[in-house]
Amino acid sequence: MTSRSSLTRKDFPNGFLFGAATAAYQVEGHKFGGAGRTHWDTFAATPGNVLRAEDGALACDQYHRYGEDMDLLKDGGFDAYRFSTSWARVIPEGRGAVNREGLDYYDRLTDAILERGLEPHLTLYHWEMPAALADLGGWTNPDVHLWFGDFVEVIDDKIGDRMASVATINEPWCVSYLSHFLGHHAPGRRDIRAAARSMHHVLKAHGEAMTRLRDRGRKNLGIVINFEHTQPASDDPKDIQAAATQDATNNRWFIEAIAKGHYPEEALAGLEPHLPNGWQDDMAAISQPIDWLGVNYYFRQLVAHDATSPWPHTKPAQGHLATTQMGWEICPEGLRALLVKLKDRYVGDLPIVVTENGMAWDDHVKNGVVHDPERCTYIKDHLAAMHQAIAEGVNLKGFFYWSLLDNYEWAFGYERRFGMVHVDFETLQRTPKASYHMLKDMIARS
Ligand code: FCB
Repeated sequence: MTSRSSLTRKDFPNGFLFGAATAAYQVEGHKFGGAGRTHWDTFAATPGNVLRAEDGALACDQYHRYGEDMDLLKDGGFDAYRFSTSWARVIPEGRGAVNREGLDYYDRLTDAILERGLEPHLTLYHWEMPAALADLGGWTNPDVHLWFGDFVEVIDDKIGDRMASVATINEPWCVSYLSHFLGHHAPGRRDIRAAARSMHHVLKAHGEAMTRLRDRGRKNLGIVINFEHTQPASDDPKDIQAAATQDATNNRWFIEAIAKGHYPEEALAGLEPHLPNGWQDDMAAISQPIDWLGVNYYFRQLVAHDATSPWPHTKPAQGHLATTQMGWEICPEGLRALLVKLKDRYVGDLPIVVTENGMAWDDHVKNGVVHDPERCTYIKDHLAAMHQAIAEGVNLKGFFYWSLLDNYEWAFGYERRFGMVHVDFETLQRTPKASYHMLKDMIARS
């Protein structure tokens, strides 16, 4: 493997993109511009769900400060910005009347990205279901793919012709399983039937969006899926089985549906009785060809057998690797192995983009600077893993650091700082961290 400290832009293929990512609810400030309420607003307003009950009302105020934020990307020598559009900002009730002010914001943001010579990479849904649709069951409602399709067309009408790429959904596992089975994210359900339905409906919504965008002649369409490096906690066959089950629910369900048109048996064993009738009929639209695959990767997860709980009989275990502020085990090798596995088993030569990778740390500004050596090491090691995957034949086209800014980290509020730029949440002042400067040096075009 190339020594981590020596990698620079010229070690990556021509045209390889270096960017940074954010998501609407995490950075914009949802109280501005006539946006409707989302299920994250109500989830956060319910005791016990979010650290300090914080919400995205103000966030980083990117709604007003997008120019400054795009300057940071340009000055850092980055190529691209990955952002998302908030459904409730554009259609406050989720269906029906369009909020022109909200739509105009994305028009201005797109202009600001392009004016700086950056590529805009759009994600259509990054988690903020409009509250009015959550009332109707949100992702468990059998019509949700149609509502989503209509929203997608509204966005496409306004900015679709200027996007370098479009992803339908960010992290369908988090949208469904994490939020409807584990209950950690909005809407905070813990119900296997709701989980199975949302796991299917979110993919159906992806398929619907693909169909509509294809009908409009759009190109460079994909989806962003999150993967963990799942390993058994021991060599006990029961732990090995538990890891296989979790690999099926957490990693294989979505990519297998998209790349092969079916769900893994180990996951169907528990979920099939709860899927909507006729789900098989949707698999053709779900598995229609995509142009690229987005991969979000953060950590290794050890899994143990849990004899006391019903299916899937799994529980997380802690390993010995160093962890981030999230408690996530750092494992760059997992990224290399994942990318190679995706090529070999699922997508072959299809372009892959690492659409998120990064780490949270308890960063502080001291004398105007932020030292984050842990993050610098994390980035270098994961870039080395990507570099190695390319050497092993993976058609990797780019890397977006998560995140451009410290922001609203969902159930952890503003405590967990993933940014390469520090945000003071009192003054909203931005301070580039040492990792931003490191990346700037690495990707400089000399
Ligand atoms: C991913 C999400 C992103 C952010 C990072 C840390 O799961 O896509 O919004 O929260 O984790």
